[in-house]
Amino acid sequence: MSAAEKFWISSIGRKILMAVTGVLLLLFIFGHMVGNLQIFIGAEALNRYAAFLQGLGELLWVIRFGLLVVFVVHIILSIQLTLENRSARPIKYRCEDTVQASLASRTMIWTGLLVLGFIILHILHFTMGVLQPEIFHEMHTKEPPDVYSIVVMGFQNIGFASFYILLMICLGFHVSHAIMSACETLGLNHSKYHPTVTKLSVILGWVIAVGYIVVPLSVLVGLVNLPAGGM
Ligand code: HEM
Repeated sequence: MSAAEKFWISSIGRKILMAVTGVLLLLFIFGHMVGNLQIFIGAEALNRYAAFLQGLGELLWVIRFGLLVVFVVHIILSIQLTLENRSARPIKYRCEDTVQASLASRTMIWTGLLVLGFIILHILHFTMGVLQPEIFHEMHTKEPPDVYSIVVMGFQNIGFASFYILLMICLGFHVSHAIMSACETLGLNHSKYHPTVTKLSVILGWVIAVGYIVVPLSVLVGLVNLPAGGM
C-alpha cells in the first residue's frame, strides 16, 4: 500500500486532510467576503472587481476547478468521519447535556450540508443566472457586466435576502467551530491556549457571518440601492 493510500485510510490522516481543505475553504470564504463588501464603496468598485475576476480567463477556471476539488474532498471526508464516529458510538449518551460540546460542534455535519445546498443555489443564482434569468441576462449585456445591480435586485427580493441571511447564520455556526477544530487537528491548540483559540475562533466565525449578512440586510433596508438613473 502506498504512503498516500495509508494516509487516506488512517483516521488521523483524513482528519488532517479535512482540516487543510477546511483552511483553504476558509481563505476563499474570507476573500469572497472582502470582495462582496466592495458593494459599500459603490457599483463601480464591485463591477470592477467582478470584471477583474472574469478577466483572469483560463486561470479563473483553474481556480474554480481547484476549489471544486477542495470542496468535494472536504465534504466526502466530513460525511465519512461522521458516519464512522456514529458507528463507533451506536448508543447515544444517556444524558446528552453531560457532554461538553457546543451547539456549533454538535451540528457541524448539518450546518455543513446546509451551506453546501446554499452554494449550489447561490451558483445557480449569481454565477449562472438560472434563478432570476431576466435580470441576469440584461445585466450581462453591459460592459463590464453590472454584477452590482444583479446583487441588489436579487436581495430586493425578500425571499432571497432572508434565505441568504438564514444560511449565513448557519455558516457562522459552522465556521466558528471549524477554526478551533482545525487548530486542534493541526496541533496548534496547546491546552494553555485553548480558551483563547476557542474565543478567537468564535469571534472570527461571526465576523465572517456578519460580513456576509450585512450585504442582503443593507439592500433589504434600503441602505444599498440601484445606481441613480436606473439599471
Ligand atoms: C452576501 C452574500 C454573498 C454575495 C453577495 C455573493 C456574491 C457572489 C457573486 C456576485 C458571485 C458571481 C461572481 C461572478 O460570476 O462574477 C458569486 C459566486 C460564488 N460565490 Fe458568492 N456571494 C455571497 C456568499 C457566498 C458564500 C457564503 C459562499 C461560500 C460559502 C459563496 C461562494 C461562492 C462561490 C463558490 C461562487 C462561484 C465562484 C465562481 O464564479 O467560480 N458565496 N458570489
